[in-house]
Amino acid sequence: MGYLLALDQGTSSSRSIVFDPQGNVVAQAQQELLQIYPRPGWVEHDPMEIWRGQLATAREALQRAGLKAGDIAALGITNQRETTVLWNRRTGLPVHHAIVWQDRRGEPLCAQLREQGHAPLIQSRTGLVIDSYFSATKIRWLLDHVPGAREQAQRGELAFGTIDSWLLWQLTEGALHATDVTNASRTMLFDVHRNEWDADLLALLDIPASLMPRVLPSSADYGKSRPSLLGAPVLIGGVAGDQQSALFGQACFTAGMAKNTYGTGCFLLMHTGDQAIASRNNLITTIASQAPEASRGSLPRAGEGWGGGGHMERATLPSNAYALEGSVFVGGAVVQWLRDGLHAIEASGEVQALAQSVPDAGGVMMVPAFTGLGAPYWKPDARGTITGITRGTTVAHIARAALESIAYQSAALLQAMSRDAVAAGGAPVSELRVDGGACVNDLLMQFQADLLGIPVVRPACVETTALGAAWLAGLAAGVYRGTDELAGLWRAERRFQPTLPAERAAELMGRWERAVRQATAG
Ligand code: G3P
Repeated sequence: MGYLLALDQGTSSSRSIVFDPQGNVVAQAQQELLQIYPRPGWVEHDPMEIWRGQLATAREALQRAGLKAGDIAALGITNQRETTVLWNRRTGLPVHHAIVWQDRRGEPLCAQLREQGHAPLIQSRTGLVIDSYFSATKIRWLLDHVPGAREQAQRGELAFGTIDSWLLWQLTEGALHATDVTNASRTMLFDVHRNEWDADLLALLDIPASLMPRVLPSSADYGKSRPSLLGAPVLIGGVAGDQQSALFGQACFTAGMAKNTYGTGCFLLMHTGDQAIASRNNLITTIASQAPEASRGSLPRAGEGWGGGGHMERATLPSNAYALEGSVFVGGAVVQWLRDGLHAIEASGEVQALAQSVPDAGGVMMVPAFTGLGAPYWKPDARGTITGITRGTTVAHIARAALESIAYQSAALLQAMSRDAVAAGGAPVSELRVDGGACVNDLLMQFQADLLGIPVVRPACVETTALGAAWLAGLAAGVYRGTDELAGLWRAERRFQPTLPAERAAELMGRWERAVRQATAG
């Protein structure tokens, strides 16, 4: 007993991981997910493939671990955020493919909302900037374009959910239509201060309130999975969007702690405690995973403590924890470009050796603004640039500059976060915890520490996204007493100490900012 099962439904694959109570990976299974691109700028997933693949990996992971469902104290769900599913409550069938977070089809409606001057209202209620990244305009597109969807929604026959809701619905065979606060905070329809769906924003977007799921804390009793699915019922005890789950799995439980996930893009989140800081640097304010200090009896249960109209009784909630978030659109993807676009390497793993074959980038600076630049710049029309090329520049310098660009973009984000934290009366970030595929690259991590002037810390368990969901579930199941115990379980594998003098780091950041200006000049 005491084992925990994390279902990690990501953009490119569905994975399941079994952890022991100490947070060690016991077994895992993974299935790739088909990416559907109906038109340029559109990205879809098949919700049934998501569910079947997720269930298959959960069964496989249990089998590989040599465990039965009865050995699992609780399962946790973590998921790609914002991705939108609408389904029929009676049949349980989706009315359309899921619209993925990367999909830009909601942009014309976003432009209209911006022109109409709704940005301050949306920012103050949801903490977000108006963008088609979030779920709201995806829901609206489905209601407007799927034949009969709006009429069915008005009759209360449809349900909306992000991927966590969709998996909860399937795991409970339709008994529960719910989400957690972190996922709700990514819809652009949730008031992150009052913890309820915002009636004004639902009206503005013309989205019926009947579509919306109940909202629960990230660590709570979500009921049990149906016995037939895993062989026995399993308590569903944790739900969190993947980036908030990673923040939790990195044991970033208090204000000022930050993590960066180096994947295809990079997602940087800084815990801001109970303060919802409105960024002055174009970052997003979002809800961090809520975990009550494990007074088990007081945990809200699904179906309890709800007001009418899908609102949570505020009295039953632990107080919110918040985070500031910024993302880098092209992180590890720059290495894919070196491989597939430039043919500079044959496999991604070769990049470190090539970059290390030269002592530095030789003055070359790359801004990989392939799809524009996100926070803190928000320049959708920017395009990639390589500057500082001389007769002596080699492909190794370009590879080094490409790798360094991941660190420069992340450093610009972290500096913006620290500025926001200081403006709100807090302290700048003093250490950065890292995870995601590219965090194994020592050269990149060392350069990151050098640029930031603070230690960059890689944990022993880099499966922090799944670990966060497992920990949230473990708290609900009483496996852990509270976050202090979890913080004690978190272990660093390596600390990268800054070695560059502060003036040199500032000079390099100055050169980066100049290169960004060049990328955005045209
Ligand atoms: O906001 C999108 C993010 O949650 C996606 O994460 O890891 O599935 O690419 P990932």
